[in-house]
Amino acid sequence: MIKLGVLISGSGTNLQAIFDSIEKKTLDAEVAVVISNKAEAVGLERAKKAAVPTHFVDHKKFADRASFDSAVVDVLRDHKVDWVVLAGFMRIVTPMLLDSFPNRVVNIHPSLLPAFPGAHAHRDAIAYGVKISGCTVHLVDAGTDTGPILAQAVVPVSEGDDEASLAQKVLYVEHQLLPRVLQQAAEGRISVEPGKDGERARVRIRA
Ligand code: GRF
Repeated sequence: MIKLGVLISGSGTNLQAIFDSIEKKTLDAEVAVVISNKAEAVGLERAKKAAVPTHFVDHKKFADRASFDSAVVDVLRDHKVDWVVLAGFMRIVTPMLLDSFPNRVVNIHPSLLPAFPGAHAHRDAIAYGVKISGCTVHLVDAGTDTGPILAQAVVPVSEGDDEASLAQKVLYVEHQLLPRVLQQAAEGRISVEPGKDGERARVRIRA
């Protein structure tokens, strides 16, 4: 059993997928705390319904990203979190947070990285004209959507797809993939091999 701290900014459907997987006993974890940088995030309501402690940490009240992250780390530590999950958290995290949870910060991104990083993945994928897209669960490093890849899932992009319909299809696979990866974390199967000679660090998931 691992303790998760889930960081959100919005609807929290991935958070809900985590709750549902815990309920179904396919994920051996406890959500120790949910933190949002948006007071109105619907995900906070989902957490309250699941009787999970919530914290609103307003990024606008902090002088810089590192001091915001430091406040977030305090909350995560108070709740004895083992793994941090960025689930629709629309802030760039700093080494302040990453160094507090080394190789224990996971993000879900709605594209097949390294294609289409950043905040407009679906718009960019449609504009490019790709025929497949999907989602990526990865460890977070100091870059934006650049960390070692843990898992990916694919969806076809159809002729008639727009940003909204693609987002919906991708969310469906996100909700399967994220809890599955977190279960691998719970089973202690994830390790990171540092990149040699300037190569990327890689994740190993033991069978
Ligand atoms: C998801 O598409 C996730 O990949 C991205 O933001 C969206 C969050 O959705 N980072 P939700 O808040 O989990 O519903």
